[in-house]
Amino acid sequence: MRQLRGKNALLTGASRGLGPYLARTLAAEGVNLALSATRLESIQELAASLEQEGVKATPLTADFTVAPDVASLAERAEEALQGIDILVNNAGIESEGLFMEQDPDTIIRTVRVNCTAPMRLTHLLLPAMVRRGEGHIVNMSSIAGKRGAPYDAIYSGTKAALIEWGNALRMELADTGVFVSTICPGYVTEVGMFARFGIDPPRLIGSCTPQQVAAATVRAIKLQQPEVIVNSRPLRPLLAFGQLFPTVADRMLRAAGIPAFQKRKVGRG
Ligand SMILES: NC(=O)c1ccc[n+]([C@@H]2O[C@H](COP(=O)([O-])OP(=O)(O)OC[C@H]3O[C@@H](n4cnc5c(N)ncnc54)[C@H](OP(=O)(O)O)[C@@H]3O)[C@@H](O)[C@H]2O)c1
Repeated sequence: MRQLRGKNALLTGASRGLGPYLARTLAAEGVNLALSATRLESIQELAASLEQEGVKATPLTADFTVAPDVASLAERAEEALQGIDILVNNAGIESEGLFMEQDPDTIIRTVRVNCTAPMRLTHLLLPAMVRRGEGHIVNMSSIAGKRGAPYDAIYSGTKAALIEWGNALRMELADTGVFVSTICPGYVTEVGMFARFGIDPPRLIGSCTPQQVAAATVRAIKLQQPEVIVNSRPLRPLLAFGQLFPTVADRMLRAAGIPAFQKRKVGRG
């Protein structure tokens, strides 16, 4: 989708962290936005400021742990903007901790928000995109989905699921005019779920800024990029090596102090 001006997008997780950066970057391209989060107050101001910049922006609430909320969000977004061309599945929650100590509700909630909601929203919005012969689904995954992060096992599993669901779906949709992109940010600085821990990202892995993630997302839509890793250091060779030699990769990551870093991050170090 080279030309974004006048297109309509549903952006989930718009209230904080990466959300407002994604919203402003899409709006700067002339994209009208349906913005979702769990509380109206958290997205009203953003919507108003985007409207002042000349795009339509509608705040919509939905709690992704509640199935009917997800279904009605798709409907309300289509109604508000008269159709959705782009779906950015950005909302996500982390569920850090020692896996065997986590309560079952944490597993269920994390899967609902990080996997079920993106799949369900896509399922609901896709038919109209295919009918129009144009559309784009963006899934906000993570490098934790490329290589699981210890003490963040549930989160890592959901982010990996997004990547392979997206890969499968993109191939199913070939020749329909609808494309699927996956964005895999590294540790994001300044705002969001990692920045809130208030610790520096591990030097070996590197980091990225929210502006870089937002710019990469718009680029992925315009250039139809299947998967984008957003990070200050090139990680793809390392990740590919890990696929080929998982035992060696585990040892290397341990030697580089990644499990210890993750443990510190969740306050167990
Ligand atoms: N920050 C990072 O370092 C990083 C790195 C890699 C990937 N990512 C991914 O980037 C995405 C955004 O992360 P972030 O750092 O911006 O997170 P964040 O600051 O924690 O914001 C999370 C967003 O998701 C929404 N959300 C949470 N629970 C929800 C629920 N039950 N129903 C509906 N919406 C819900 C929140 O809305 P409310 O305000 O209403 O709760 C909020 O808008 C996530 O998918 C995350 O996995 C982040």
